[in-house]
Amino acid sequence: MKFYITTPIYYVNDKPHIGHAYTTIAADILARFKRLMGYNVFFLTGTDEHGKKIEKAAEELKISPKELADKNHIIFKELWEKLDISYSKFIRTTDPEHQEAVKVFWTKMVSSGTVYKGKYVGWYCIHCESFFPSSQVKDGKCPSCGRAVDILEEESYFFSVKKFKEKLSKYIETSNFIRPEFRKAEVLNALKEIDDISISRSRERVSWGIPVPGDDKFVIYVWVDALINYVSALGYPNGDKMSFWPADVHFIGKDILKFHAIYWPMFLEAVGLEPPKTIFSHGWWRVEGKKMSKSLKNVVDPFEIAKLFGSDTLRFFMFREIPFGRDGDFSEEAIRKRYESNLAKDFGNLLLRVSKFAENNFPEGVRKNFPSSNTELETAFDLWMEKMENIDYFSALDVIWNLVNLANKLMDQKSPWNLIKHDREKAEQVIYELAHIIKVIIFMLYPFCVSTCRKVSHNFGIQWLLDESSPKDKKDVLGFQEKFKISSTGVLFPKIEG
Ligand code: ME8
Ligand code: MG
Repeated sequence: MKFYITTPIYYVNDKPHIGHAYTTIAADILARFKRLMGYNVFFLTGTDEHGKKIEKAAEELKISPKELADKNHIIFKELWEKLDISYSKFIRTTDPEHQEAVKVFWTKMVSSGTVYKGKYVGWYCIHCESFFPSSQVKDGKCPSCGRAVDILEEESYFFSVKKFKEKLSKYIETSNFIRPEFRKAEVLNALKEIDDISISRSRERVSWGIPVPGDDKFVIYVWVDALINYVSALGYPNGDKMSFWPADVHFIGKDILKFHAIYWPMFLEAVGLEPPKTIFSHGWWRVEGKKMSKSLKNVVDPFEIAKLFGSDTLRFFMFREIPFGRDGDFSEEAIRKRYESNLAKDFGNLLLRVSKFAENNFPEGVRKNFPSSNTELETAFDLWMEKMENIDYFSALDVIWNLVNLANKLMDQKSPWNLIKHDREKAEQVIYELAHIIKVIIFMLYPFCVSTCRKVSHNFGIQWLLDESSPKDKKDVLGFQEKFKISSTGVLFPKIEG
């Protein structure tokens, strides 16, 4: 069973921020979940390195675009390592294999009869690398990012959309292609209004790009170049990984939905490839109510957040705080609250109490000494599974937290520290029950809090449970084991000063 997951490839004009971290963590959560379920997962991320935006940024630094890309793509890789991102491949659009694949793709589009040469006159935004119709441009400002736009007139290759509109709109209406569902309408509207797509740039104006095959007065439009990464990474046209196509999920932000939901399936159809199965387009993180931007000096550095709170806290926070798909507000105060109340108090304390008690009182291990039933856990597991399959991380975490609360209640009500004084059997029974629930919890929480759950799995002697290279089923997770040999987890989420 194959499963193909992608993130956007990020522009290398700047360092990564929490928005980039968000999409990549979302993809990693699904990748880990699917691997645990036995899928052969291919998880792609990378960097988008051509185009005017990169060219300009490099110019300002007085280095070449390639030098800028070489320097900045490493920062993305370093961040993915810090955040436990388990990608299979990191693609760069300057990779020679990618550039070759783009040329083949282009040539195939041309021979399908959907490309013609014409003249483009219109508003252009360098930042967004996009043309906009005058109806959308107010006061010379880009309708997407608000920066100033320029009038541009140049010869261009165009991709003719006529042939593809109807089929695509049927596909959107009748499938799971656009997620969340509430974004369908805006895509269908945009599709209705779309004009032929300019797919080249004059080399005079943009020199940093892949030359148009057979016409090197032009370079290929950076968005065409970039989208093709999803197949060039598989070895398009004939590479052995092409069997992963079509992609199961492209994770993106809502800012680039049009490119993925409209342009990309049309380009694919032109060259005879299937459209991706799902595009998950999530919402936007603002910072303390405002848009993140350099000029407001409010760009949040994910390295700093990870350093202060740990990678697991960031991964957890982003999907516990808001339903995945919606917009959210990022603040240090909000993340601190989640850290203190959910992770340190609910979860960390539970683990410390249970594991320390077990270590002190049952150094030989906690045996199963009673018949048990699992119905509550089974219901929770099934629900979690359904939510994960549906990429509803927010609800999946809710299911997990109900179990955390259940375990805390059990611990308080049954007070094993009293039982142990007169009824050792009974105390062992309670701790076994708790260890069993914790086993289920760390399995379900693992895709979110990777390193904490790994550590706890060692403390509870169940490392095998989180081994992604061998699939797990419900029986592995819910099955009763003979005993747990437990060592104290220590304080997992210590108090953070400052
Ligand atoms: O658009 N909140 O790259 P990019 C949530 N190279 N997500 C955010 C965010 C925020 N405030 N800011 C950024 C590009 N993102 C192209 C993509 S793909 C073939 C080419 C995330 O560096 C979100 O996923 O501008 C968004 O779509 C992406 O970063 C844009 O990254
Ligand atoms: Mg952007």
